[in-house]
Amino acid sequence: MSCNAQVNQVIGGRQRIRINNDWHFYKYPSGSLADKLMYDVRPQTDEGNLVKDADSKPTESVGIELKADVLKPWILPSANKFIAEANPRHLRPEGNPGGDFPFVQLDFDDHEWETVRLPHDWAIKGPFQEGWDSEVGGGMGRLPSNGVAWYRKKIAVPASDKGKSIFLDIDGAMSYAMVWCNGHLVGGWPYGYASFRLDLTPYLVYGRDNQLAIRLDNPNYSARWYLGGGLYRNVWLVKTNPVHVGQWGTYISSKNSSKESATVLLDLKIDNDSPTDASVQLESKIYTLDADGNRTATAVASSSSMDAMVPAGESVRLKDSVLVENPLLWGPSPSQKPNLYVAVTKVLKNGETIDTYETRFGIRDIQFDPDSGLVVNGEKIRIQGVTQHHDLGALGAAFNKRAAERQLEILAEMGCNAIRLAHNPPAPELLELTDRMGFLVIDEIFDSWERKKTPYDFHLIFPDWSEPDTRAFIRRDRNHPSVIAWSFGNEVGEQYNGAAGAAVAQRMVDFVKQEDPARPTITAMNFAKPFMELPAVADMIGLNYQGEGIRQDKMFEGTDRIRTAPQYEAFHAKFPDKMIISTETASAFSSRGVYLFPVTDAVSSPVRDGMGGDSKLAQVSSYELYAVDFGSSADKVFAAQDAHPFVAGEFVWNGFDYLGEQTPYYQSRSSYSGIIDLAGFPKDRFYLYQSRWRPDYPMVHILPHWNWPDRLGQITPVHVFTSGDEVELFLNGKSLGKKKKAAYEYRLRWDDVLYEQGELKAIAYKDGQKWAEEVVRTTGSASQLLAKTDRSELIADGDDLAFITVKVADKGGLTVPDASNLIQFKIEGSGEIVATDNGDPTNMKSFTLSEREAFNGLVLVIVRAKIGEPGTIILTAESEGLQTARIQIRGK
Ligand code: GAL
Repeated sequence: MSCNAQVNQVIGGRQRIRINNDWHFYKYPSGSLADKLMYDVRPQTDEGNLVKDADSKPTESVGIELKADVLKPWILPSANKFIAEANPRHLRPEGNPGGDFPFVQLDFDDHEWETVRLPHDWAIKGPFQEGWDSEVGGGMGRLPSNGVAWYRKKIAVPASDKGKSIFLDIDGAMSYAMVWCNGHLVGGWPYGYASFRLDLTPYLVYGRDNQLAIRLDNPNYSARWYLGGGLYRNVWLVKTNPVHVGQWGTYISSKNSSKESATVLLDLKIDNDSPTDASVQLESKIYTLDADGNRTATAVASSSSMDAMVPAGESVRLKDSVLVENPLLWGPSPSQKPNLYVAVTKVLKNGETIDTYETRFGIRDIQFDPDSGLVVNGEKIRIQGVTQHHDLGALGAAFNKRAAERQLEILAEMGCNAIRLAHNPPAPELLELTDRMGFLVIDEIFDSWERKKTPYDFHLIFPDWSEPDTRAFIRRDRNHPSVIAWSFGNEVGEQYNGAAGAAVAQRMVDFVKQEDPARPTITAMNFAKPFMELPAVADMIGLNYQGEGIRQDKMFEGTDRIRTAPQYEAFHAKFPDKMIISTETASAFSSRGVYLFPVTDAVSSPVRDGMGGDSKLAQVSSYELYAVDFGSSADKVFAAQDAHPFVAGEFVWNGFDYLGEQTPYYQSRSSYSGIIDLAGFPKDRFYLYQSRWRPDYPMVHILPHWNWPDRLGQITPVHVFTSGDEVELFLNGKSLGKKKKAAYEYRLRWDDVLYEQGELKAIAYKDGQKWAEEVVRTTGSASQLLAKTDRSELIADGDDLAFITVKVADKGGLTVPDASNLIQFKIEGSGEIVATDNGDPTNMKSFTLSEREAFNGLVLVIVRAKIGEPGTIILTAESEGLQTARIQIRGK
């Protein structure tokens, strides 16, 4: 093992070691210079970069013939454990492709390669590719994610490991991973969002260094958003006895769950990798976990001891059930507690423990009621959700648990209780967070099936990989109590081809049900209507934008794009037994802190120049009334939901801005649809959702800011969001009147305010009582920088992060709302700047730079403590003419 590898777990016969350090990385300067160790031949494309609407109709895939020597036949057997029928299982051909290639050899000199620590995203440092004909288009984030790259690492395997089974577990490799060990091709996995395991045992040499070499290949034009590149999640070595609990080999569910008792069902799979039959005993004990994730001393229930005879080279499945009295139920925050349990399963041979396996799970009862929505543990819970892509803004695709936790904390603050994972399986740790923090999750696997959205997306490998990918996805995630449903597709092209499309969907549903009969299925539909075949297949109805209606504005008459009247009633009437969820709503656009005039008097409007948008600035107004052509403002969605209370709730597109898919301004780098910007700063919309989703939290929010020296005497509308029901607005102490929300009204608007500098004050009332107050003032000029960190202590493990907000303020400390001063950051002591950002979708400065302009007054700096070097960290923010800010953090 390399010296600073972390031993994360050594329990009863099993070791799980994270091997993230000291990888050597090399990327070919261009695709044409790369080696030819390809997974498969790809069809030619002349489609190029994507400048098409998100709801464009997917098209037929293009057939290709296998002409060249490709490695696919050697990779396919890696899928075998996830293919049910013996027939399509794959036999490994003779031979060892790539075995003589220099990069896979133990003695290859890679000292000139870059040393990297995982999770690693090779593309995030940039540079951004600007312009209309950039190699990687705006849709994919303008960052160099495409290309072929190699990762190499030496692992020392002690002689004492002889006789063990040793696996390489990769949580995510983007994409077309192929792995060699000591020059032998072990296998691989093409889908970049999948977690997978390869058995290294036959290829290891004991008592010396062993060479891992991993080839990744990211074709350009393979996604509609930024996908990143590299070993972008954790990588592990797992060492077990040859007889052990299999990969994701436990499936724990519960039935008849109530506060009084629950029946916990255990379904356990034991693998025997040895050449002799094994006779073993199995026992499982169930413990509660405390808030820190530690298990309590005494078990709350135990299974009976089960005997099993596991034939050589085979697996057996054993089932048992145990009764848990007075269970602590898992339920969503904030009204319920996300209580967790752990089942500790032991495999014993002749009385000796040869394997121990821990499975975290929760006990809960969920009903999916077609007339009243979701009922969790007897309580009706409205889904107040957002969709989320996998990138973490300036950190790119490289997973970081603290960064993901911060996102969830910000979402929880807004009142969000649910996440839909768009459109692929997340890092495993994300679901640990949603379990622990009490979010409901729709876990989703694909954005395309057989029909394609982009030339090189999943459709290319759908025939071979849809079954193993789907089964692997469910086996990995099915013990998480936060996961409430499986989405097996987003806006797939199979919506358009009737019975044939429905048959593909049915095949997917069958895989899902075989792996997890307990949870419902859903697919997100933006086109399929109640009379079509596809909606009948899944257990629930998932509607993207259709509930509110699509392109209903007059300007879209005669369009050849999707134009649909509101569909909630029609689906409810046709499918009275299926619960409806709005799997995607809004796709409303805004740039934090940008306000453009005039302001529409409509409740929802498409974005055009002079109508919420400015294509030269490439910014959208934060009056929060503007949406993508097929979408709706938040207000319009709220009204549609309130008019149809049978709808279980919504997932807003999108929680956080993400890299790529920057409709409506292709020249930018990142999206406009987030409620929160790419740096994690709330846009005004955050408060609109908060006002609805946290009705008991006293708040009132005024927009816009009040620094408009060029608008003296001009109409400058003031809009107010509140969880109260009535607001009185004052300008410089003079009342502009009291307004009360009418039915289906979610904001209070004073559209004829004439600008004068000074102070706006909103006093909100609820049921006639004063509820909340907010003041917005014209600020003085920029005079100082102020810095605030989200944490003052950091663990020096290379993973923990501090998110520091630096604001440009006037003398009195008010943020100057249009400040764009260039700020330089310096760090002293045992810390490092990982990235900076300001949430501006048009900013093309590499995230790794330690200087950045403020965007409307704010900049974010992400800092980590140097690994193993605890001590003081001092971050200084400087800008010409402004007083410096300094902040101190302790690395521990
Ligand atoms: C939807 C799609 C999302 C995203 C969104 C952008 O149609 O499902 O992935 O593209 O539009 O508005």
